[in-house]
Order: sequence, then structure tokens, then C-alpha cells
Amino acid sequence: MTTLDIRANEPRFPTAKTLYGLFFEDINRSGDGGLYPEMLHNRAFDDGIIPDDLKVDGNFIVNANGYRIEYCGGEGTERWIRENNNGETTDIPGWYADGAKIHLDREDTLNTNREAALSVHFDFGGRIRNIGYAGVPAKVGEAYHLYFFAKTKTLVPLTISLSDENGIICGQEITVSGKDFIRYDTTLVATRTTGQACFVVTAPRGGQLSFGFFSLMPAVTYCGHGLRIDLAAKLEDLHPAFFRFPGGCIVEGLSDSTVMRFSETVGPVWERKGHINLWQYRMTNGLGYHEYLQLCEDLNAEALYVCNCGMTCQARECILLEGEALNASLEEALSALEYAIGPADSHWGALRARMGHPAPFNLNYLEIGNENHGEAYEKRYEMFRNAILDRYPHLKIIANTHVERSGLQLDVADEHFYNRTEWFSSNTHHYDSYDRQGPDIFVGEFAVVTGPTRTQYPAVGEAMFMIGLERNQDIVKLAAYAPLFENVHYCVWSPNLIAFDNLRCYALPSYYVWRMFSQNRGTDVLPCDQSSGEIYPPYLKGGPALMGSNGLTFRNAVWNGENVYATHELLGHVEAVADGFRIMPAEESQKHPRMHLSPNDDRTFIVLGEDESTRTGVFEIEVLAEEGRTISVGICCSPMTEEGSKERWTVHNLRPVNWTLRNGKSTIIEGWGMFSTVLAEECPAELSAGVYHSLKMLSDGGTVSCYLDGILLQTAELPHYEMLQSVALADGEDLIVKVAHIGSEPETVEIRLDCEVESEYTVQLLANEPTARNTLEQQEQVCDQLLLHQGAAKTFVYQAPPYSVSVLRLRKC
Ligand code: AHR
Repeated sequence: MTTLDIRANEPRFPTAKTLYGLFFEDINRSGDGGLYPEMLHNRAFDDGIIPDDLKVDGNFIVNANGYRIEYCGGEGTERWIRENNNGETTDIPGWYADGAKIHLDREDTLNTNREAALSVHFDFGGRIRNIGYAGVPAKVGEAYHLYFFAKTKTLVPLTISLSDENGIICGQEITVSGKDFIRYDTTLVATRTTGQACFVVTAPRGGQLSFGFFSLMPAVTYCGHGLRIDLAAKLEDLHPAFFRFPGGCIVEGLSDSTVMRFSETVGPVWERKGHINLWQYRMTNGLGYHEYLQLCEDLNAEALYVCNCGMTCQARECILLEGEALNASLEEALSALEYAIGPADSHWGALRARMGHPAPFNLNYLEIGNENHGEAYEKRYEMFRNAILDRYPHLKIIANTHVERSGLQLDVADEHFYNRTEWFSSNTHHYDSYDRQGPDIFVGEFAVVTGPTRTQYPAVGEAMFMIGLERNQDIVKLAAYAPLFENVHYCVWSPNLIAFDNLRCYALPSYYVWRMFSQNRGTDVLPCDQSSGEIYPPYLKGGPALMGSNGLTFRNAVWNGENVYATHELLGHVEAVADGFRIMPAEESQKHPRMHLSPNDDRTFIVLGEDESTRTGVFEIEVLAEEGRTISVGICCSPMTEEGSKERWTVHNLRPVNWTLRNGKSTIIEGWGMFSTVLAEECPAELSAGVYHSLKMLSDGGTVSCYLDGILLQTAELPHYEMLQSVALADGEDLIVKVAHIGSEPETVEIRLDCEVESEYTVQLLANEPTARNTLEQQEQVCDQLLLHQGAAKTFVYQAPPYSVSVLRLRKC
């Protein structure tokens, strides 16, 4: 049983009004063809044009320091071209010709920011087609606004339509004439619904012309400001207090040309430069700075702008800007601020006014850089901060790291967490010990990204972590999930809070936690003393493994008294040798890019046997000690995801407890690679080269003990954590109690109050099987319900269902 002692009359501190917000980054094609519902792909014909500061190497583009991203000349990456085009290829992404010849004109373009025009020679009845973003959508009865710029030396009648395999859905006729680019506008009204139409331009009498730019968008958009209604409504439902944009890594870029610059995203869309982002595609920048600021206003959220600080992404072979280039970056940040909050008669404020918003926007937060760190960052941070505060002293400055530890000033520190469910469930006290005199904290990006994702189970883990944030909202003032959107046809990063295709969208279980929590903010945080049972991470079970260097020689591997042999060679291979076995190096095909292995990395990962069942057991093995060779043996090697899931037996999906002997030292670690945790600090361990040593790992379910040649060397506690987390809030005459329970059985929660409450109370409940998920077909399989309960009293019992998140609302009397 869990007990909660809540003192309703002793508020600890007020809730942070800004706590729950949003982070938008254009990733997974969430902008064009998504939140910004442009229906034509490559409307400015520049998708296949690679900027001069990137080299092309097959399907990759490479920055000056050698960092590579996949980007084929077609429609994004290789993967996407196959999915979208049924084998058809084109040199001009998105565009195809039947009975017509198309080529890019790089000279005679619509304006100086346009890099190409589409030159078309139509035969009689010839046509060009645009395939949209995995199809052009149409909804019966809905109107779509088309405009394009074209020029011709003659007079060319065109028929413009949306059509699919069942014929024409809507169409219009337009005759193009005039030797200079002229804009043509029309409206198409769909007679059928489909997500899979094509946009077709036919010339019944043939002709030669040049198109400077196209755009096709729904006529009705969110608040009339150009964004897709169903997606924006999903954001509105979260009641975001702030909106962080435009990234994320895309702010940093991987070269000068791929940095996101506000100045290239404002003004008429046909005059905006596009740019390639580091998520492998070109953005039109139609969803630009003005549109973000307008969306913040429409959502009633505070704008939180992130500027590049004169360096590209540090995780991608960083390029540092210096001198004039660095000054230009600073100028860019200052200009962005002038655009948002400068007077309407300033240079950039005047453009804002011309774009329809003479009054300044509400922007009070500026983040300098994204995920930047170290000396190079701190130098730039200081330079930017000083110059920015000089002009805009009211701004709250957000730093990417705790720069106060280097003696610099900041208002807010941004911290990001991507990890597994159990990390979030067990780190609910992360902020309890933070310095109350330090900066405010912005948990700017977090999500479960490893182990089971997209389901109820990670949503409950995140809820437990968020309860920890709520208990610390005297310093944790802002938080956001990341990333926000994915187009299901262009997903490079999963999970994301909201998924969509051309016609539909659904939210992940995590979304409903955010919605429940942001709808129930309360006014004050109350003392809530909790006592609850503990659990072990569900993945902490299973048989043994070897993870030492390649070349490691071993014999007589025994698990619980039975001989075991290599069953899953995740990294490296096992070969029989004279008196035992040797681990041979991994093949390239075994190395997943996410492992981040350097060329000299000699680690291996071999699972022995098939046991996936138990947390207790004994693993014995004899291992040959050799100079410089790391010996690492492990237990608890069961995959974190369920039977049948993709990539089950991979190094990312296992989190063994491993005992490592290296350079005369011994240590016990949980996990492998990026997300590992030390369970027992290093202690001395002498091995004799050329000698077989006997190693024994024994788990009694609560601790693991490691014996070297029969002598106990080290013991570590296995990770475990509270299975339930809670926070209590006051809200006028109401008391709000949020409870997240990750155990597999219902949990009895005894709630003890210091005041009387009415018997009737409401529960907003998100309870499901741990594997439950939403899909495009079943969009609200996982969704919170509002229930009416009876029986609340000064002391009463609430049954928290397994894997559930509950928000109880009690009325004082
Ligand atoms: O949210 C996806 C990426 O994760 C962001 O671009 C970056 O800030 C982080 O590394």
C-alpha cells in the first residue's frame, strides 16, 4: 500500500505559471506538408540543389569537417524515394513529366533569392505532375488556394487539376501569357476525398513556359494564419504557456548554409530562401519566424526564441564562426529581436508591420544556442548576452549549460533528457537537491527514446518524472516534450508527440499526460509525504553475455549449472579455438550508426543461452587474461522490448549488468554504451596475463556479487525505484492530487488530508495495458477519461490501476 500525507493548509510555494510549454523543430518534415500545409513538394524547384559549402558523396552530403548526412538528389533520403515514387525517378524532386520535358533554369529565376525556375516544354496534351508530400490531399467540399508565377513568349492555355487513379477531383483552366513572370491565382474545390492525389498541369495545345514558384494550400487555416487546423488544434488543447522554436539542432546546422537564419524566413514566401536542414531535407521556410510568432499569439503562449550563437552543431563536427562571420551571427540575433519586439518604424519592425502585425509580439525569452557547451560556447554566450541585454534588458536569457559554474550570468539553464522509461521513473527526485539560489531550470527537451516507446508504459514513466518537476517548480519553471511532430512518411526521429499523414493525425499516450497535467495546474504546491513500495526495472532479468574486447578467449561458460554457448552475436562473432572459444571482431554490418563507434573501438557483445526469465542466477566462466584486453561479463540480458518487436536483439535494446576488468581495475555497470550507469565504483583487480581466471557473477535478485578466482571482489545493489509518484496542489477550493503508478498490479493509495473534503470527486484517468498505443487507424485507443468517484474523506483510499496516471480533483468543505 502507498500512503500520501497531504497538508492542504501549508502551501510550499506557488506553481510556475509557465511550466508546460511546447518545443517545435522542423524535423520529420513537420513543417512543409505538415503544420505548414503546403501541398506541393519542392514548390520552388530547389530541393535537389546542394549549397557550395557541402560536398556531395553519393547519397550523402558532407560538411567541411567531414560530417555526413544522407540526402539524395530525389525526395529526401534513399528510403523515402522508394516509398513515395513507385520506382519512378526524377532529377527535380517532387516533379514528373509525361509528354513534356522539364529542366531547371538556374539563370532566369523569379527573384534573386530563387535559385531555379522550372522550364517546361509541353508536347500537345503533355503534362507535369507534382506528387506532394507522399501524395496531395483533398477533402470533399474543401477549397484550396493555388497560385503560381509563370512566363512565356507565346500564349499557353493550361488545365490545372488534382487527380488520382479514379480521375479528376477538381480542376481549373488558366491561360499563361506575358514574357515577364506574372502571378496567377485560382481556387480548386475538391469533389472527393483522398490523401493520394497528384497536382497536374496539362497543356492541351502544348507550349513552352517557365514557372517561377507554385503554392497550393487549404483556403481555411488555423486562425486564418496559414497553419493546418487539426495539428494546431492538438497544440491548442495542451494549453501551452510558452513555445520554443525553431530548434533544436536545426538552429545550429552543420555548415554555414544549413544554419537556420530568421532573416531568410520572413517576407513574402516566394522571396524567402529555402535551406537544407540537418534532418536531411530542404525547408521552404514558409513556416518562418513571423508564422511562429503569430502561432504563439494565437495559442496565447509566450514566445521563446532560440538563436544560433556562431557555431554549428557540436555533435556533428562543429564549425566555429569567428571574426566577421561571428559578428554577423550576433547581428542576426539582434535583428530577430527587432523583428519581434522592435518598434514598427525600425528596419525589421517595419517588415513585421508590412506582414500584418504592427504591434510588437510578446517575446520575453531568448535562448543562446542549442545544446552548445564548453569554452567556445561560453565565449560566444557572453558576447551575445551582453549585446542583447544592452538593447533588450527585459529579456530572460537562457543558456544551454550551467554557465554560472564558470562565473557567467544567466536567468535560466536548459537541460535535455533522452533516455529509457526506467530512467525517468527513477529520476523523479532529480531536482530535489538543486541549489535554490541557482538559475531557474528549463527542461527544454525530454522523452523516452529507448526501450519500449510510443506506448502507455513510457508515458507513465514520463509522468513520474513530470511529477518530480511539479514538486520542484520553485526552480523548474519551464518544460517541453521533444520532438513535437512527425509526418509518418518521413520519420527520421521517433517518438514524437503527434503523428500525422495528409488527412489524419493522432497523439501518443505521452500527449494525454501533458494534456492532463497542463489542464490541472493549480495555484500552490502542497506538502505531500509519500511512502510507497519499490520495483526493479522489468528489463533486469535474463541470462549472461560477454562484452569485452575482441580477441577475448574463454571456456566453460555456465549459467545456473548448465553450459551455455553464443546465441546472439550482436557485435563480433565467436569461434572455437583449441581449448575454448575466442571472440572475433565485429563486422561493419553489425555496427549501427547509433552506436557511435570509433574506428578503433574493439568492444563486442555476445549473448550466451536463451534465458530471459529471471533476475537471480549464477554465471561462471573462465577467461584468459591478456595484456591490454578488457574483460567484461554480464547478466540480465533480456531485450527491453516485447517479443516480435523490431530490432529486438540489438545492443540498444539490452541493458545488462556487467562486470568489467580493465587495466587492473574492476567496476560494475548497468547498460552498455551511451546510456550506462555505474553501480559500483572502481576497485583494484589484479589479473595475470596468459592465465585463465575464473569469474563468477551471482545475483540474488537484490544485489549482484562478483568473485574473481573464488574471492569476492565487489558487490552492487541492483537498480530499483518507487513504483508510484505523487504531487498535491491547491486550486482555490479544490485539491489536486496527481498520481503516476508504473507497477503491474493495482495499488491501494491511502490519502490522508488535514482538512475535510466532499465525498464526490473526479478522476482524470489514463490507464491501459503497458503496450497500448494509438495509430492513424485507432487514434484514441489511449486517451484519458473523466470519471466521477464517491467516498473521499479526510482519510480515504484510491485504487491506482496498473500502469496508470490519475489526476484527482477533490473539493474542500
Ligand atoms: O529533439 C530532437 C533533437 O534532440 C533536437 O534537435 C536537439 O536539440 C536534441 O539533440
